[in-house]
Amino acid sequence: MLSTGDYDAPNNLVKDYVCIKIVSPGSIANIGPGFDILGLSINNFKDTILVEAWPGNGEVIVESYGYNVPSGENNLAYYVVKAFLKKYDVIGVDIRIRIHKGVPPNSGLGSSGASGAGVAYGLFTIFRPSFLEKELLYIAGKGEEYVAGTPHYDNVAASLFGGIVLIDPLDMSVYKFRLSNPPRIVIVKPYINGLDKKTRYARQILPKQIDLKTHVVQTSLLSKLLLGIITNDLEILGKAINQDYIAEPYRSKLIPYYWEVKAIALRHGALGVNIAGAGPSIFMLVRDQEDAEYIAGIVRDYYYSKNIPVEVFITTPNPWGTRIVERCC
Ligand code: HSE
Repeated sequence: MLSTGDYDAPNNLVKDYVCIKIVSPGSIANIGPGFDILGLSINNFKDTILVEAWPGNGEVIVESYGYNVPSGENNLAYYVVKAFLKKYDVIGVDIRIRIHKGVPPNSGLGSSGASGAGVAYGLFTIFRPSFLEKELLYIAGKGEEYVAGTPHYDNVAASLFGGIVLIDPLDMSVYKFRLSNPPRIVIVKPYINGLDKKTRYARQILPKQIDLKTHVVQTSLLSKLLLGIITNDLEILGKAINQDYIAEPYRSKLIPYYWEVKAIALRHGALGVNIAGAGPSIFMLVRDQEDAEYIAGIVRDYYYSKNIPVEVFITTPNPWGTRIVERCC
């Protein structure tokens, strides 16, 4: 673990100005049937976060740059910092967080998770460098709680640890997987009006209970998904991510032409298609770059033919997760 300067455990008093710069990637939560317990870290989108601390009176400053994300107390980072200071009784410091957003908010690509993960990682690195993973996860999840109303850890865990993560929500342990033959992932982000508090709403519309039959089918899909990961079998993985009985039936209604686009992608070679996190982005698992470019073009043309603005990206799993890139003091 990188040492970041003078700090005085157990009083947590920073003696000097300390600053670290962190990058934190976006992610795809749920990966189809793994509602709230599976996440996949992705390349192409990342937040760059400066965490600074100096001796002071407990002031917390949050500045956000890029996209339309508020600074100050309306930023989830504020709650992550406050939760950290309270839980670990950190006193006598001012903290400034500067977030340069690279993960688009309200997209389903783990924007809040990337920020929460990066901020939490920076704070632990400065004040409690011998942290446990679950402590880090808990604090990072405070940002998700602020944004979505309830905590969930799939995005923050994927951002923090990279690759594919499975979370045990009871004891907050995280199991990490890497694919030895990483696929390409096509991300389709259709433009939708009125996305304020989107994750909160997308969670509210889900059923509070599921019946036994649904449980059996969903568990089978989830097991298949894990088998696909463990055996590095993209065909099995694709089949598993392609179905979900908890979120997809309800959230698909919020995404224009979702089922049409899914059918088109599958017909043209996608291995599996589902909603990224709470949406509205759609993710498509494909074999290689050639397939990815072909499917990306077809889907883009389809949305344009319906006069719906859309952005399409080709990405890959990010194996690293949140990283310190610079000690900037
Ligand atoms: N698992 C969460 C959900 C992710 O689907 O609501 C939200 O980003």
